[in-house]
Amino acid sequence: MQNTFSHKVLTWFHQHGRKHLPWQRNRNAYNIWVAEIMLQQTRVETVIPYYEEFMYRFPDVRQLAAASTDEVLHHWTGLGYYARARNLHQAARHICTRHAGKFPATFNEVLALPGVGRSTAAAILAFSFQQPHAILDGNVKRILTRYFAIAGWPGDSRVEAQLWQHAEALLPTAQVAAYTQAMMDLGATICTPANPGCLICPLNTNCTAYRQRRQHQLPTPKPTRRLPQREVLVALVQNRDAAVWLEKRPPAGIWGGLYSFPEFTDASGMEKWLQKTWQINFSKATALPAVTHTFSHFRLRMYPQLIQVNKKPNGIMEHGIGVWYKYPIQKPGQKIGLAAPIKNILQQVTQHKKGILA
Ligand code: ADE
Repeated sequence: MQNTFSHKVLTWFHQHGRKHLPWQRNRNAYNIWVAEIMLQQTRVETVIPYYEEFMYRFPDVRQLAAASTDEVLHHWTGLGYYARARNLHQAARHICTRHAGKFPATFNEVLALPGVGRSTAAAILAFSFQQPHAILDGNVKRILTRYFAIAGWPGDSRVEAQLWQHAEALLPTAQVAAYTQAMMDLGATICTPANPGCLICPLNTNCTAYRQRRQHQLPTPKPTRRLPQREVLVALVQNRDAAVWLEKRPPAGIWGGLYSFPEFTDASGMEKWLQKTWQINFSKATALPAVTHTFSHFRLRMYPQLIQVNKKPNGIMEHGIGVWYKYPIQKPGQKIGLAAPIKNILQQVTQHKKGILA
């Protein structure tokens, strides 16, 4: 036992692991689940303030299920990968209707929740119920590809299958929660993507990559391909109260359910829309600096066109799928989700308004 992989990992954890993260305070399955979803593709430091605020507003699964999707997305604003928030909300409703509000405790039931894959289900069950299930997130993939010197991109299904086998075989029978946290922490702090701390790693004596001095070559990077670029004109229609017109995007696709500027693939589309909706000519638009946002599969280049209209904001500010939105809004009842670049453009417009046009 003394020299096994898991023993070394656990010994390291007891000395160096993270034991005071917000989701480690009260390890009920709801808390752990929300944290694990936020932590998918997102760093711990980024997640912490979002997690605290989210748990303050939605302390249990029933309160999350009862909220509007707009409000859930509002609390996700800036965190990215918004499908996670929509799935979380849908899963909360699923737990209330099919599990009477009690978080499920079997692997297949947890895996059936929208947004929960094999590794996340394993982490939730290990952390909240001490159930022995192996995880394989990005951190663990990196540790194992180096430890066993497995070449090939870890996202490739054949490589991934091999990694799962190793992850399962190494799983200890006791202290599963500590072991799971330890693997995440070791990957995040020692076995890092660049400049891994091999000299202080508890696994260095048996790590194949380290012994062969190949730790910098592994894991094999994802085969690169140039991201396609999409270009769009976006209309920043601003009224006399400095509020900007935003429309809710359809539920599927990028930024699904978030509010954004009306978007056009060409000038004539925008021109027609401006005439029809606002009776205003495109020549009245001021081009603001272009903004590029990179998604996992394409790059979006937005050309914001500022258009000032004489329309007074109406009292309710709500118009079906559109809203007059004044940044930074603090009104209760107008909580909507915004993608980070949209929020940045709104900030820019507010400054533009104050600095140049006011
Ligand atoms: N990444 C994913 N889950 C995590 C956790 N529970 N602690 C730290 N990093 C994580």
